[in-house]
This record gives sequence, C-alpha cells and structure tokens, in this order.
Amino acid sequence: MKVTIFGAGYVGLSFAACLAEAGHEVLCADADPARIEGLQGGRMPLHEPGLEALVASGVAAGALRFTADERAACEHGELLFIVVNTPADAQGRVDLRHVIAVAAAIGRHRDRDALVVCKSTAPVGTAAQVEAVLGGELAQRGARHRIAVAVNPEFLREGSAVRDCRRPDRVVIGSEDPWAIGLLTRLYAPFIQDPQRQLLVMDRRSAELAKYAANAMLATRISFMNEMARVAEQAGADIEAVRRGIGADRRIGPDFLQAGVGYGGSCLAKDVRALTHAAERAGHALRILSAVAATNHEQKGRLFELMSRHFGGTLAGRTIAVWGLAFKADTDDMRDAPSLVLLERLWAAGARVRAYDPAAMPNARGIVGERDDIRWCTTAQEALQGADALAVVTEWEEFRRPDFAQLAGELNAPPTIFDGRNLYDAAQAESAGIAYYGIGRGRSS
Ligand code: NAD
Ligand code: UGA
Repeated sequence: MKVTIFGAGYVGLSFAACLAEAGHEVLCADADPARIEGLQGGRMPLHEPGLEALVASGVAAGALRFTADERAACEHGELLFIVVNTPADAQGRVDLRHVIAVAAAIGRHRDRDALVVCKSTAPVGTAAQVEAVLGGELAQRGARHRIAVAVNPEFLREGSAVRDCRRPDRVVIGSEDPWAIGLLTRLYAPFIQDPQRQLLVMDRRSAELAKYAANAMLATRISFMNEMARVAEQAGADIEAVRRGIGADRRIGPDFLQAGVGYGGSCLAKDVRALTHAAERAGHALRILSAVAATNHEQKGRLFELMSRHFGGTLAGRTIAVWGLAFKADTDDMRDAPSLVLLERLWAAGARVRAYDPAAMPNARGIVGERDDIRWCTTAQEALQGADALAVVTEWEEFRRPDFAQLAGELNAPPTIFDGRNLYDAAQAESAGIAYYGIGRGRSS
C-alpha cells in the first residue's frame, strides 16, 4: 500500500521503516528540511536500536523515501499518517498546531480519495477537529473527493521502537467507517498474528482516550511503586523483593513496577498533565493523576536527597560521577530526563559532575551547554576518576555488572554508590567496601 508519514521523529521514523520492511511503499515527510536532508544522506536524526539498519535497507529497496515537499507528501499515500509532536504546556494544554498544519496541507493538496490517520497523541475530539479543517479546505476549492479521518494511537516505547512496531501487543483503530477499518486492517496485517484478539476497533473518541488512559495507567504504576519504595525504606524492607512478590500475581503482572528516579521522557508526564487538564475543564478533578504527578516530581529529587543526607547536608566541593543521562536506556532522548533534575540540584549545592552516557551526551550537552562544573567523559570508567560518589541514573546494559573492586579503587575513599535504578546487589557492593544506597532498599540504605 502507498503510505505517507508526516513526522520523521521517534515514532514516525520507526513506523515508516517498519511499514517499508513489511512491503508498503512509504514516503516520510518532515517540516524540518535539515532532518530530511540528513535522512536522504543516510544520517540518522536519533538513536533507536536497529532503526538505522532498517532505514538503510528500506531506502536501498526503494520502499522508503524522504521528502520535505508537502505537496508531494500529500499526493503520495492513500493512507496519510499524522505523527507530529503534540507538546503540552505546564497546565496540560496540548498544542495541536502541527497536527492542524498537516490537516490543512492535506486539505489543500490532496486531489484523490484518502484516509487520514491521527497517530499523534492528541486530546479527545482532535480527529473531529482534523476532519473540520480538512473539510474546510476541500470546500474552499470545491473538491468532491473523499477524505476520511481515523484514529490509530501508537503505544511503542523508545529504546524498543522497532521491536514494538513489528510486534505490537495490540492495534487500536478508532473508526466506524468500514472502508477506513478495512484499509488499516490490511496495512497492519503483517504485524498482527491474532487479529481477533489484537485488532481493537472502536469509535474515534474512545481510541483517543485509550491512548491517554494507557500512559496514565503506566505512570500510576511507577508512582505507586516509588511510594512503596518509601514505605520499604521506612519499614526496613526491600522494594525489589516486594516487586517480585506482587508482580507474580497475574492480575498485576511483572512489568512497569520498577522503582527508580521517577519517570521521564516526552510522553508519560505530558500525557498525565493533558488528561488531568482535559478532565478538569470538563468539571472532574482527576485526584489519582494529580498524586501520580506530584509523587513523580518528588521522586526525581530522591537521589539528591540520599546524597545530601549521606554527605551531612553539604555537597559543596564534592565531585559526583553520573552514569546515564538519557531518560531510559537505549535512547539518546533527554526530554524530561530525571538526570537533568539531579544535575541542577548538584550544581545548586556547589558540587561538580563527571558525566557519561553511551548515547545521550550530544543531546545533553545541547541542553546543558558548556559550563565549568561538568566534565563530559568518554567512558564510564573515566567518569569515576577522582569522584566522591557514583550516581547511576539510567539503566544502560553496560552499567549492570561493574567490577566493584575496580570501581572502589577509582572513587575517592570512602567509595559510595547511589543506585537510582536498583541495578546492584547491595551485599556485593558492600563486600568491596562500597557504601550502597538504592531506591526503596530499606535493608541496605
Ligand atoms: P518527535 O518530536 O520526535 O518528532 C516529531 C516530528 O514531527 C519532528 O521531526 C517535527 O519536525 C515533525 N513535524 C512537526 N510539524 C510537522 C509538519 N507540519 N509536517 C511534517 N512534520 C512535522 O515526536 P515523537 O516522539 O515521534 O512523537 C510524535 C507523536 O507521537 C506525539 O504526539 C507523541 O505524543 C506520540 N507518541 C510518542 C511516543 C514516543 O515514544 N516518543 C510513543 C507513542 C506516541
Ligand atoms: C511510554 C509508554 O511505555 C509507551 O507505551 C507509549 O507509547 C509512550 O510512552 C508514549 O506515548 O510516548 P516511553 O516513554 O518511550 O514509553 O518509555 P517507558 O519505557 O514507558 O519509560 C518511561 C519512563 O518511565 C522512563 O523514564 C523509565 O525509566 C520509567 N520507568 C519505566 C520506571 O521508572 N519504572 C518502570 O517500571 C518502567
């Protein structure tokens, strides 16, 4: 099938490459000409495992092309996906300007029937708004062809975007139009093993809300576990044991129960804010989600609190090694990363930082800028040299099994680890003479 993807970001690019791999003819458009020029020249704008090779093979096979030409993009696909950014401000008001810009462009340029699919995460009613904008443009030029609008939210995670795209748990189709449902069912056929179970067809408004509800539920699980981690600390229990104890219950399940430095990234916090704002405008206060957001805000300061307590309330003149800057492993994405909160607090307290991340350092440097109180290190080991303590902020694979004896030797005495991801066994670290702090590990913190 001929498909256009508007937006070559984390989602758009991953989705485009997977559709091309599955045999569709994909044209991926972006409003940022530099991004398109880079992609046309074989340069990736972002880090996502497996994506570079997939893009390269899609391009080589002629199944994946890139364009900055809006008209060409509108003319190409019988399915036109809107996968642009939908930021929310501090109050949770969602900025739909990019979505609307794409809708207007399609209304202006598309000369044949098409299905427009809203994949960007956007508030309930956005598909209707897209339809109105399209309708307005078509009416203005007296066009008579048919452009339907469906909703198809995306549930992939950064760091595993390719895997999630190839094998989604489920595909939600928000449409009551048999033609649109048929097209999307055909498009997704290569990715779905059990259509009866995995293809979930519903009205557009429910599909829009299902996306927000999913992210809100995931955020709730994380904040719940971060609260439980505080209880575990007070009770002398270990949250990791508690996690196993509840995750084995099939009604609860083992995923998304990891206590840590708080959730970051471009979506969980944004979508919780947006859902809370929309519900409040409709007269309903979402008390649970307000608490989820407040807990997460506090949690991002937790590692700093542990450090401050350990160093007797003063970090001035201390040097802290920071392993991991990205908001999660396997990505270079720094949007809303908990590491940024830690860095700011450390600097405000007069500490210096030696930072290392396998992928996110260029983005982190772009955000933080050049300053004297951070040293950008090229290896994890270099970050340790002469530091008073190590803070582990992102759960990259390469941080998981350090040589504790060597680590103790690199850090200033007495060596200390603040493990924001509970990667380590406290007893193992302590047997190398390292003071160990985890999150919710009352038996060791
Ligand atoms: P992103 O910021 O990485 O990419 C968005 C891209 O859209 C940018 O490259 C931007 O230049 C481009 N763009 C903006 N206006 C455009 C226009 N008029 N025409 C063409 N391109 C335009 O965003 P993302 O992380 O890929 O997220 C996209 C959407 O998907 C958001 O609504 C987000 O909430 C949702 N989402 C994101 C994830 C994720 O893990 N990142 C997962 C599921 C859903
Ligand atoms: C999240 C959802 O998982 C996706 O389903 C959704 O499509 C996406 O948001 C979106 O709408 O953008 P993503 O933000 O890429 O995906 O990454 P997650 O794996 O959800 O991690 C989010 C944050 O929560 C990270 O900071 C991560 O470290 C943290 N996290 C995750 C925990 O602290 N504990 C956990 O158990 C899981």
